[in-house]
Amino acid sequence: MKGHWDKRYSSTEGAYGRLPNPFWAKELAKCRGKNALLPCEGEGRNAVWAAKHGWSVDAFDSSTVGMATCARWSKAAGVDKLVKTHVADAFEFQQGFPQGYDVVGLFYAHMPEAQRKLFHRKAVSWLKPGGKLILEGFNSRQLGLKSGGPKDATMLFNEAQLEEDFDGLIIERLEAIQTTLDEGPFHQGEAEIIRIVGSTPKS
Ligand SMILES: C[S@@+](CC[C@H](N)C(=O)[O-])C[C@H]1O[C@@H](n2cnc3c(N)ncnc32)[C@H](O)[C@@H]1O
Repeated sequence: MKGHWDKRYSSTEGAYGRLPNPFWAKELAKCRGKNALLPCEGEGRNAVWAAKHGWSVDAFDSSTVGMATCARWSKAAGVDKLVKTHVADAFEFQQGFPQGYDVVGLFYAHMPEAQRKLFHRKAVSWLKPGGKLILEGFNSRQLGLKSGGPKDATMLFNEAQLEEDFDGLIIERLEAIQTTLDEGPFHQGEAEIIRIVGSTPKS
């Protein structure tokens, strides 16, 4: 899969746009704290936006090309001191803040079925007590639509599945909605998405 993403980011800079995901931008503005983690962050649109708003960000992705673009965009935006990029697989990433992050943002981070729950549990483990998880991805009704996402139905999300994966969180919001994506050439048009906001117990 790494080859697939390297190829995509090599041939199209801004595959998902340079602007942040709108849900991330809106939800992060409500968050308190300083340190954010963006797993599977691709080219860094969400990392750069967070850093521009004062957050210290760790961003990782298995794509070398994606992370190189993230580093370049961070420098161009003057926030390279706030964004640390890591070329890492989700199951090998060594978290930069042993005490946990204030916010973890998962955006269109779809894993093979056998890894999904483990990955989601890992994302929760990267949070500090009282930290917040913000997720947006495609729901199972996306199959057949042309606005992006995995073509393998088992990689798409549904509410029951996510409720179980994230049962360690206090869920503030969990919704599956229809929307229109306008995020670079690979997320364009009518889409079926799912969103979660939840936090870890304060301890
Ligand atoms: C659809 S892109 C989304 C990128 C970014 N989150 C965004 O919304 O702009 C999915 C990303 O997940 C990354 N990815 C997939 N599986 C991964 C894994 N096991 N470890 C690290 N990155 C992974 C890919 O390299 C790709 O950049």
